[in-house]
Amino acid sequence: MWTAVALVASYLVGSVHCAASQAYTWKNVLTGGGGGFTPGIVFNPSAKGVAYARTDIGGAYRLNSDDTWTPLMDWVNNTNWHDWGIDAIATDPVDPDRVYVAVGMYTIDWDPNDGSILRSTDQGDTWAETVLPFKVGGNMPGRGVGERLAVDPNDNSILYFGARSGHGLWKSTDYGETWANVTSFTWTGTYVEDASLEYTDDPVGIAWVTFDSTSGSAGSATPRIFVGVVDTGESVFVSEDAGETWAWVSGEPLYGFLPHKGVLSPAEQTLYISYSNGAGPYDGTNGTVHKYNISTGVWTDISPTSMASTYYGYGGLSVDLQVPGTVMVAALNCWWPDEIIFRSLDSGATWSPIWAWNGYPSIDDYYTYDISTAPWLQDDTSTSEFPVRVGWMVEALAIDPFDSNHWLYGTGETIYGGHDLLNWDTTRNITLESLAVGVEEMAVLGLITPPGGPALLSAVGDDGGFYHASLDTAPSQAFHTPTYGTTNGIDYAGNSPGNIVRSGASSDLPTVALSSSFGASWYADYAASSSTGTGQVAYSANADTILLMNSDGAFRSQSSSTFASIPSLPSGAVIASDKANNSYFYGGAASAIYVSGNTASSFSKTTTLGSSTTINALRAHPSLAGDLWASTDTGLFHSTDFGASFVPIAGGCTAGWSFGFGKPSATGEYPVLFGFFTVDGVTALFKTEDQGVNWQAISDANHGFGAVDANVVNGDLQNYGRVFVGTNGRGIFYGDPSGGLPSATATASASASASSASKTGASASVTGSSSSSTGGTTSTTLVTTTSSTSSTSSSTTKTTTTSTTSSATATGSSTAYGQCGGDGYSGPTVCPSGYTCTYENEFYSQCLEG
Ligand SMILES: *[C@@H]1O[C@H](CO)[C@@H](O)[C@H](O)[C@H]1NC(C)=O
Ligand SMILES: *[C@@H]1O[C@H](CO)[C@@H](O)[C@H](O)[C@H]1NC(C)=O
Ligand SMILES: *[C@@H]1O[C@H](CO)[C@@H](O)[C@H](O)[C@H]1NC(C)=O
Ligand SMILES: *[C@@H]1O[C@H](CO)[C@@H](O)[C@H](O)[C@H]1NC(C)=O
Ligand SMILES: *[C@@H]1O[C@H](CO)[C@@H](O)[C@H](O)[C@H]1NC(C)=O
Ligand SMILES: *[C@@H]1O[C@H](CO)[C@@H](O)[C@H](O)[C@H]1NC(C)=O
Repeated sequence: MWTAVALVASYLVGSVHCAASQAYTWKNVLTGGGGGFTPGIVFNPSAKGVAYARTDIGGAYRLNSDDTWTPLMDWVNNTNWHDWGIDAIATDPVDPDRVYVAVGMYTIDWDPNDGSILRSTDQGDTWAETVLPFKVGGNMPGRGVGERLAVDPNDNSILYFGARSGHGLWKSTDYGETWANVTSFTWTGTYVEDASLEYTDDPVGIAWVTFDSTSGSAGSATPRIFVGVVDTGESVFVSEDAGETWAWVSGEPLYGFLPHKGVLSPAEQTLYISYSNGAGPYDGTNGTVHKYNISTGVWTDISPTSMASTYYGYGGLSVDLQVPGTVMVAALNCWWPDEIIFRSLDSGATWSPIWAWNGYPSIDDYYTYDISTAPWLQDDTSTSEFPVRVGWMVEALAIDPFDSNHWLYGTGETIYGGHDLLNWDTTRNITLESLAVGVEEMAVLGLITPPGGPALLSAVGDDGGFYHASLDTAPSQAFHTPTYGTTNGIDYAGNSPGNIVRSGASSDLPTVALSSSFGASWYADYAASSSTGTGQVAYSANADTILLMNSDGAFRSQSSSTFASIPSLPSGAVIASDKANNSYFYGGAASAIYVSGNTASSFSKTTTLGSSTTINALRAHPSLAGDLWASTDTGLFHSTDFGASFVPIAGGCTAGWSFGFGKPSATGEYPVLFGFFTVDGVTALFKTEDQGVNWQAISDANHGFGAVDANVVNGDLQNYGRVFVGTNGRGIFYGDPSGGLPSATATASASASASSASKTGASASVTGSSSSSTGGTTSTTLVTTTSSTSSTSSSTTKTTTTSTTSSATATGSSTAYGQCGGDGYSGPTVCPSGYTCTYENEFYSQCLEG
């Protein structure tokens, strides 16, 4: 649910077409392991068991007592897609039912809208919104610093939010409803990660706000407040007068490092700070951990690894509130041999690591690794000498304030933690568990259900993709041999559906893989090489020809011949294969349809689709040759003559994005068509059982699926009524008609009765707030959204860890064991004599002996 304000059913009075709706029941296809970056985890310090995790592209989650997580933002739909980018989260220490998030995806033009603070009084079940007068960047560089949003522990009507982009520090005195700039705080943060690219050229801004709860008393504003700023100069500031005036905390060591976390140990009157020389989440080669003794004003370097010998900076930091002096800190990224986490029982004087060398190449792991909830997390033990387990990108690290044994940390891929942390100090062997069940964060790029195959095959960003034998059981392995970080495209051969092709990036193996067992096992297609670009694929009906569209254009391989360019099909076209006639392939670019009747040897432009300017998707009927559909920016079009001509579908459909076919009803002859469309002015997930004459909306107020243009949809060819929706950051959903999958006979009547229902597309209204600020700060008028227009930014498919900033331009030589490559890395790529630049993962290559 969106907001406490009552939902209002909206009826399109007097409209000729009036799309109906049908109730669907939605669940995630379980992977159990998150699959993306978790930049923040917070525990409430006053109420046992209240904790939240935030993601960068998939919303926020609340922890349940059984270690699972509940998604809190599945209402996000195409109008507010950027609300899934969470740049900060704050749980209220006074009223643990209140929780706040700062939302917005990008502070650059990839996201046209200003950000917001969402506030909830029921632990995230419902939310109200205040739009800020600037953007918020949940998926921008430095998204793991924080938390930059905080509630005053002595007067919970007071909140601070540290903005990006030079917009400074903001304050609310009414539980987050209105906000004003704290103009006396003048350090807005000047650091940018890389000025040469738009994405990395925006100041990360303020890192964190930490109240010294002990400096005040309940009922009045906390006097002492620390603020960390992402700046290579002075970066830690303090107010002693509840935010009226501010000063640099003198004595702060100035090494040019950025303060990622500022964590108070109240009983010790000490602020612990982790520093790294990059804003994260991918970088960091140097840094320190410092503590600042508030009573004495003394700064102490307590880094577990000395500056002289470190090759990482620090990120996640936590103290055990029940045991003053117990501190944990994580390297932000220790790419090799594995992420490292340290624990101290003496306020940072001495540390013990989670693993240690025991004479290279032997390592003592002081943990038992338990990924039973998501076995696929470690897929690659056979191919990697040092398989990464502890993780990478560890910015979120939290010890439960009510349970010294319970801890959680977020990585670039999942959430780990455990329930026996005190064993670290006794038996020196903890159980490191994947604890991400309920978090489904994958960015999905393709979904197919070849008839006769498993429940589902998925192509996903960063985690490869999966053979889902069951929708409710975590897969045991991602697609492997070859293993791709990201699988960009997947298709099956219509006449021979056990034959599957997929395309994904690899550093050393062909980027096209084939299966003749419905995706259960795979082999590399040596028609491609590791340098063949990846992209969408279409498989001919008899599985002898592959059409590949990558960033270099269209390519064809027949009978394992080397992929050859197809100049007659425009680069960037959407593609499809006929599912019944082996000779036919289709392409769509701008408004034009391109058809090949010679197994993709050449394409001819056949027709254009009305006034369309963009063809968003092409899909062929699962068994009828020559039956092809196209969704465009003006609607849906149907061809029954192999793409020679198309008729526009009436029925009120005026735009379409991803769609697909599901099994027909027992009485139906034609497959059910599911997809994201605009019908009668409503942009939502729809289905039609009669080829577009009647439509039923099947998304609802609680299941919006985010940006329509970033999603992939397919029907289930094996179960009538079932649909799959792959999102950009909330994993894969499957939906069944409410009441369960219809039986063969119940089916027809269920859909018939549904089609007579009125549309009840819930339109929640959010109360606007427009007021000026108090307390000597500039007055700011903030208006809350009621209905923002649909935004379909073409950039929303940017995924969590798929960096587009890969560049290695520096000259000179790296060092022995130094970094020599990786996404986002711009240092030297040449290794010293005797060392070879060795690929470890997409973010890190290292100079190793040999
Ligand atoms: C907020 O205040 C800071 C510091 O005075 C200033 O630099 C920034 O521009 C202000 N931001 C806005 C949006 O007014
Ligand atoms: C802070 O300094 C005081 C005075 O020297 C000392 O007693 C206390 O132990 C220090 N706290 C920490 C956490 O080092
Ligand atoms: C880390 O930075 C410090 C301060 O600039 C420098 O003295 C040290 O050599 C650096 N460490 C490494 C390993 O480069
Ligand atoms: C910790 O326990 C695991 C599982 O029993 C074992 O594999 C590992 O070697 C142990 N670590 C140490 C340092 O004893
Ligand atoms: C596929 O289309 C081609 C070209 O129109 C035709 O010659 C062939 O018979 C068709 N194949 C089948 C199996 O229908
Ligand atoms: C999208 O979400 C907004 C806010 O929750 C709501 O007002 C709107 O009705 C939703 N749109 C659809 C089509 O459900």
